[in-house]
Amino acid sequence: MNPELVGRILHVTSEPDPWGRWSFNSNPSGIAVAHTWLQIAALLWGIEEFGIETFIELGTYLGGLGSILLPGAAYGKFAYLSIERDAGVVDVRFRQEVEKLADHRRAALWSGDVFDPEMVESVRLKVQQAEGPTLIYCDDGNKPQELRTYAALLRVGDYIGAHDYPGEVKVEDFQPLLSQYGLEEVTVDFWREGIGVIMLKKVRASE
Ligand SMILES: C[S@@+](CC[C@H](N)C(=O)[O-])C[C@H]1O[C@@H](n2cnc3c(N)ncnc32)[C@H](O)[C@@H]1O
Repeated sequence: MNPELVGRILHVTSEPDPWGRWSFNSNPSGIAVAHTWLQIAALLWGIEEFGIETFIELGTYLGGLGSILLPGAAYGKFAYLSIERDAGVVDVRFRQEVEKLADHRRAALWSGDVFDPEMVESVRLKVQQAEGPTLIYCDDGNKPQELRTYAALLRVGDYIGAHDYPGEVKVEDFQPLLSQYGLEEVTVDFWREGIGVIMLKKVRASE
């Protein structure tokens, strides 16, 4: 399959991004998502394929991606947690929907800096208590640092992913983490180069 062709067929009405691909203008739920259509599809596919039971999003923004994922939390497929430093930016409709699920411990929105040691510790506890495979998805302002910080929290069988390859996350950002934290790249070939999302799985203990 030619990833460029797939991208262009699905994004014929969008302007290409600076890397010659497509714009980040998808809006399937009514809250804009800072992901392309194919990136959304890749994430949904990954959740299904990898059997993710806890999805942790670093960087909520409006809640656009969260609004796509929330039904999965509502129907019990996985638990959803999203963390945003600028609480005021989150769309109030999204916040209300998350709150409806909060009673059932299916969804949560945390306010704070993902590099604050207390926040990292809270996420560590969340990961430790999660019953099935967890995916930590790095979509904040410093994705290489998020990868370095949060890869250390994974249990064997968990995943860490990042948005914006190669614009913000480059091979040299995640390659050293593979041996350090016992990770393997599980990204389907065309995801990384053609879609711009990377996904790593922890397959053995850290060094
Ligand atoms: C690219 S947007 C997230 C987009 C969202 N995941 C989506 O797809 O709809 C990045 C968000 O991360 C937040 N952010 C940046 N640095 C952060 C940090 N250190 N801690 C928490 N949030 C941060 C920004 O305020 C911004 O809302």
